[in-house]
Amino acid sequence: MPATLPLSPDELLSTTRAVRKRLDFERPVSDDLVRECVDLAMQSPSGSNNMTMQFVVVRDAEKRRAIGEVYRQCYGIYQSLDGVYIRSIDKGDDVANAQQQRSADSADYLGEHMGEAPVLIIPCTVGARLDGTPAMMAASMAANVMPAMWSFMLAARARGLGTCWTTIHLMMEQAVADIVGIPFDQVQQVCLSPLAYTKGTDFKPASRPPADSIIHWDQW
Ligand SMILES: Cc1cc2nc3c(=O)[nH]c(=O)nc-3n(C[C@H](O)[C@H](O)[C@H](O)COP(=O)(O)O)c2cc1C
Repeated sequence: MPATLPLSPDELLSTTRAVRKRLDFERPVSDDLVRECVDLAMQSPSGSNNMTMQFVVVRDAEKRRAIGEVYRQCYGIYQSLDGVYIRSIDKGDDVANAQQQRSADSADYLGEHMGEAPVLIIPCTVGARLDGTPAMMAASMAANVMPAMWSFMLAARARGLGTCWTTIHLMMEQAVADIVGIPFDQVQQVCLSPLAYTKGTDFKPASRPPADSIIHWDQW
């Protein structure tokens, strides 16, 4: 059995955070650990049991640097999008706004340092692009890999590794496709995540809206 942190299922689910400033860029991550996380990710569901998910695992330093530069450029565009950029979103009260600004500091940090993570993970779905695809197909294609990637992130957290779901590079998805040879016309990237050991393993549940504020019992 691999060495995992002593976390209950609920602790694992409630403490798998977007890790950015606490990524340890100096400590290498073994290929075997990545394989374990992907093996667990492959237990996730897929439409028609079709398993169209693929994981591009980038360890090469020059490719990571190049992807990090694409991410940095996209992040600059994102920062100019008022109402979209994490820092520009008003959460309605002082406590939540202070938390939002801390999250923005963390996101800004990753904007500058993505390429320094020892491993970058690009989960993809194969067969078609989502652009212009009818909703039923698009939702199915995306969900063939997104639950798998979340399982990967949970498996990583259980092993003392941190991840962060990011989508900003999709503004320049083709540039990243070209760096690692992804056939852009047939393969859709759904996110980009750093993978690194975390500095410390203690993470806390985040403040979230209570269930009854988002459940629509029997009727929207
Ligand atoms: C669809 C999606 C896109 C995201 N894109 C980015 C991103 O491009 N850059 C980033 O730093 N974080 C990104 N995040 C992470 C969120 O900012 C993060 O999940 C949120 O602030 C809550 O933080 P927590 O996951 O630690 O609770 C994204 C998350 C999701 C689900």
